[in-house]
Amino acid sequence: MATLAPERPITLLSDEKYRPQPATTDGQELLWEITFGGITSLILRAVVVLGVPEILARQGPGASLSAAQIAARLPNCAHPNVGALDCILKYMARRNVFQLIGSDEEPQYGLNDVSRWLVGNVGNVSPILLLHTHEVHMAAWNHLHEAVLENCVAFERLTGKPAFEYAREHPDYSKTINDFMMCYSKGMMSVVLEHYKGFDDLKSIVDVGGNVGTALSEILRVYPHLKAINFDQPHVVANAPRISGVEHVGGDMFDNVPSADGVFIKNILVDWDDEKCIKILQNCYKTLLPRSGKIMVVETIVKSCANTPKSCTKKGFFEKISEVLDVSMLAFTDGGTTRSENQWRNLLAAAGFTEIKIFELPQSVVIIEANAK
Ligand SMILES: C[S@@+](CC[C@H](N)C(=O)[O-])C[C@H]1O[C@@H](n2cnc3c(N)ncnc32)[C@H](O)[C@@H]1O
Repeated sequence: MATLAPERPITLLSDEKYRPQPATTDGQELLWEITFGGITSLILRAVVVLGVPEILARQGPGASLSAAQIAARLPNCAHPNVGALDCILKYMARRNVFQLIGSDEEPQYGLNDVSRWLVGNVGNVSPILLLHTHEVHMAAWNHLHEAVLENCVAFERLTGKPAFEYAREHPDYSKTINDFMMCYSKGMMSVVLEHYKGFDDLKSIVDVGGNVGTALSEILRVYPHLKAINFDQPHVVANAPRISGVEHVGGDMFDNVPSADGVFIKNILVDWDDEKCIKILQNCYKTLLPRSGKIMVVETIVKSCANTPKSCTKKGFFEKISEVLDVSMLAFTDGGTTRSENQWRNLLAAAGFTEIKIFELPQSVVIIEANAK
């Protein structure tokens, strides 16, 4: 695996005419913020990997500990560097991720309304952080400019392999992806289930590329009558938890898809180019046709840049993710991309589907529903 992206020298233009003439330095500040954002997420990664949020949570509500007390509780660490830990925690407390109690000289740290989202199994942001700051991910982003210069996939330039193949061969990386998908999927399914009622008329459902079955387990909470199949690559379903009412089936969606009245396919097609999407969709169509079944494609859409307000309005979780999605697809997939309404209609029609309807849900989530007849 290549580890370092080639450094490209930059030129600092010295001519007076290039000197910025702004009324304020807001623009410069924004660039500093963007620049240090990546470092802040890596510092937070260290906090999470060390298990600091759990250590604080185990002390009970409202508790606080000094860096030395936290260090004494780090598992498998005989000689912790307390000063290093204090430096990291102080930085995160300044970013409002922990509550700092006491003075700068004798600080104690406690969980606050931000760091409580790093513990527990509801809405925990740690899996998202751990995937996006993963060593391999970070190294792949360093090759992004080569995607422009050489029309390559940054991840493949780094690892020599497509991401799903690399994950198959690296169980730890695969687990990091699955944990991320579990967390991401839970949140998105709460938006889907609140606003979309299209599961009502189904008796059976297959989730194509369903990962470890998170989406189906959320669907079955509301529609327990459904007979459900979670379909994904064999190595993924082999590590999936048992879910009552869900059968895990391993296979390849490019070969065929198990049979059901409804196909659910969420955050899959964004990973592939049109040709591969049509192949997957044709397999879905084939399996649905004998039952005149329907497909439900769930993706996020990216709002037009022209409509993005200049002021920083508060954005929802998936809205923020959808904004970074196109560039992520460029870095990690061969031809994956977000699509407009018309592009979705064309893809489904090309695979044979009819009566295509698009439901726009909150937070940039869309469901494209279509029939096989
Ligand atoms: C981005 S994840 C989406 C997972 C899930 N649908 C969700 O929304 O949480 C993509 C999934 O596609 C699966 N996948 C990739 N190639 C596949 C193939 N050829 N056949 C079946 N599943 C595949 C991956 O294992 C992974 O679980």
